[in-house]
Amino acid sequence: MVSNQPLRNSTSESDKKALADKPGQLAIFAYNYLKESQGFRNRKDIFILDLGCGYGLDAVFLARNLPCHILGLDNSQAAIDIARRSLGSELEKRVELLCYDFSDVSDKYDVIFVSNLYHLLKTDEMAKLRETVKRCLKSDGVFFLSTFSVRDPQYFGKSGNLSGETSSFPDEKCLHFFTRDELEKDFEFLNISALYELDNYQAHINPGFNHISWVLMGRLK
Ligand SMILES: C[S@@+](CC[C@H](N)C(=O)[O-])C[C@H]1O[C@@H](n2cnc3c(N)ncnc32)[C@H](O)[C@@H]1O
Repeated sequence: MVSNQPLRNSTSESDKKALADKPGQLAIFAYNYLKESQGFRNRKDIFILDLGCGYGLDAVFLARNLPCHILGLDNSQAAIDIARRSLGSELEKRVELLCYDFSDVSDKYDVIFVSNLYHLLKTDEMAKLRETVKRCLKSDGVFFLSTFSVRDPQYFGKSGNLSGETSSFPDEKCLHFFTRDELEKDFEFLNISALYELDNYQAHINPGFNHISWVLMGRLK
């Protein structure tokens, strides 16, 4: 069954401490799910793959708050260098950050996490990302995605359309905006258990952000 609602808001003292790290909203959603879901809550170690990890805020947050090992990949060496500086000696044992293209991964993971990357990809790169998910997600694993919605007020319609694509506005970066139908079609190889839009996505991190993004969670069929 597809839920249109986020998981409950976190209010406990330990959750407040965790949220002080300012993770992205997809990381908060994944954390709430993984610490409570039957398949994961008693696990001693969860193997997480963070594709397009950027400065590693979400990887660090998940590693601090869950019993897990994380591989964070980004094809920007500058981003990886910054991300590595935020790891202390304890986290270095459980968080590996590498400059790497997501399509080159081959190992299998319990969790694949993709925050704010999918809408930046060209059509062929989106297909490669989906292939990576199919290849690298364990049969009982779970996939988390956040990506821009067509209702995004900050960027949608603000630059010239990509030829033939009504929801793509390539400015400095290729930006595509998704409808629910598009995401359900792109990820039809998953049983999607949550798909909902979040207003003010990431506004808690950067008040200048004014985005509406989708949050999607699913497992391989
Ligand atoms: C908007 S940032 C998102 C960073 C982080 N996940 C977050 O939510 O804040 C997108 C990141 O994806 C990385 N990226 C783009 N294409 C990639 C690829 N093919 N393989 C790995 N990383 C990629 C970029 O370098 C960038 O750091």
